[in-house]
Amino acid sequence: MFLKIVLLLIVACFSACFKCEFTVTPDKTYFASKETLNWTDAKNACSKAGLELVSVLNTKEQTLLETFLTEYQLVPADRWSIYWLSGIRYPNGTLYWDTTGTEIGEEVDGWARGEPSNAYEKEHCIELKLDEGANRLGWNDYFCIEERKYLCQTPRKEGPVGQDLNDYSYLTEKIEDLPEVMDGHIIIPFGFVNTRKQTPFV
Ligand SMILES: *[C@@H]1O[C@H](CO)[C@@H](O)[C@H](O)[C@H]1NC(C)=O
Ligand SMILES: *[C@@H]1O[C@H](CO)[C@@H](O)[C@H](O)[C@H]1NC(C)=O
Repeated sequence: MFLKIVLLLIVACFSACFKCEFTVTPDKTYFASKETLNWTDAKNACSKAGLELVSVLNTKEQTLLETFLTEYQLVPADRWSIYWLSGIRYPNGTLYWDTTGTEIGEEVDGWARGEPSNAYEKEHCIELKLDEGANRLGWNDYFCIEERKYLCQTPRKEGPVGQDLNDYSYLTEKIEDLPEVMDGHIIIPFGFVNTRKQTPFV
């Protein structure tokens, strides 16, 4: 009896906490975080919830993900409501989905215009943002140390499985050579203005 109550409490607490941290689809495929974390913490948060960061292997998955975001009004409205995906640039320079071990863009090209740009050669992680000019969602490579919302999915039951790197520490690389800061705005050569004092938006 006592055990049953404890178990019930654990289950109730887990579902309550789970709900408050994620927006969940009825079919429980995609989960959008409400908090922002750096890429490695986001990867761990998905995994702690029994999920994995989202990978987009083909146009069908791209459509499913975009439908989810649209249906729940989670489409990134601006450059500050962007999501981490599972993509990273491996140390050898190749862009992979960390969870499947497959090269990014093999079957579907979801890059935002002008991306990936690998600014300062330190944009190792892939995010999903609004490609403002094109008025559609697109992938962008960005600094892994930055905090973003993140998208998790139910772990794939079949298909490719990622080759976890042994050492992800290179993802914490910082930019030593920050561009000029004026009035708290970082002005970078591309003409973007970032109102935060952290890294520029590229
Ligand atoms: C790059 O590194 C990944 C991960 O170790 C590996 O699977 C892949 O084969 C490498 N690609 C090239 C072109 O060396
Ligand atoms: C993310 O933050 C954690 C601490 O919360 C830190 O250990 C980790 O190195 C950071 N990762 C990146 C990519 O900055």
